[in-house]
Amino acid sequence: MKTLIAGNWKMNGDNAFAMNLAKDVAKQAQELASSHAELLLCPPFVHLAFVAQVLEGTDVVLGAQDCSEAQKGAFTGDIAPNMLTDLGCAYVIVGHSERRTGHKETSEQVLKKAESAYQAGLKPIICIGETQSEKESGKTKDVLSEQIKDSLPRNAFPRNTVIAYEPVWAIGSGKTPSIEEISDIHDFIQETIRETLALHTEMRILYGGSVKPENAKEILALKNVHGALIGGASLKADSFIGIAKQVR
Ligand code: PGA
Repeated sequence: MKTLIAGNWKMNGDNAFAMNLAKDVAKQAQELASSHAELLLCPPFVHLAFVAQVLEGTDVVLGAQDCSEAQKGAFTGDIAPNMLTDLGCAYVIVGHSERRTGHKETSEQVLKKAESAYQAGLKPIICIGETQSEKESGKTKDVLSEQIKDSLPRNAFPRNTVIAYEPVWAIGSGKTPSIEEISDIHDFIQETIRETLALHTEMRILYGGSVKPENAKEILALKNVHGALIGGASLKADSFIGIAKQVR
């Protein structure tokens, strides 16, 4: 299982920025000694086609930040998963906390989006994570357990699905849980998924929330951490590749 280093560009940059960043990442990826890392870029929808051209013939993979629950039809403003595969996407992020909070997406909707992604041959990266107040009131594991049960399709398995644990309070804040906490939570997530889906193999679980080159080594070395979902630090090729360099 390769370590997945995924860049979530969110709603940043213009077309020139996207193409330059993709070019820089692809170039630096060639020099990357580690063959253990799979690099993934998730630009805004409108830049996907251009970034796809830049990444053609490279080992860097393309993904999107969201998709529709539906395959086609009267859904103004939505993007169907097969539109994403058509552009060369292999992955799609679903249930990011910025969608769960800002767009009131429920775990049930996230599950439908993941199923919709499967239909188009896309691998969903299903995000889960507790808020600051849930953490403070000691509810982290209950929240994660509920999100796992409600957001994961029952036919999710390691080859078609990736999970991303992103504590909401750690996103873009510069704060991260301690290494012991990340380790404990990832073990808990792995175990809960195993029980929920009756799996015999390990699910790929990414950590996300203020990952940077300086803290990536310790985080990526943990047993049940199989990669990172990176926001801010993915907007510069140097820091994104700097994180990928920590993969051993
Ligand atoms: P961050 O974002 O790396 O800027 O904290 C992570 C994410 O939201 O995926």
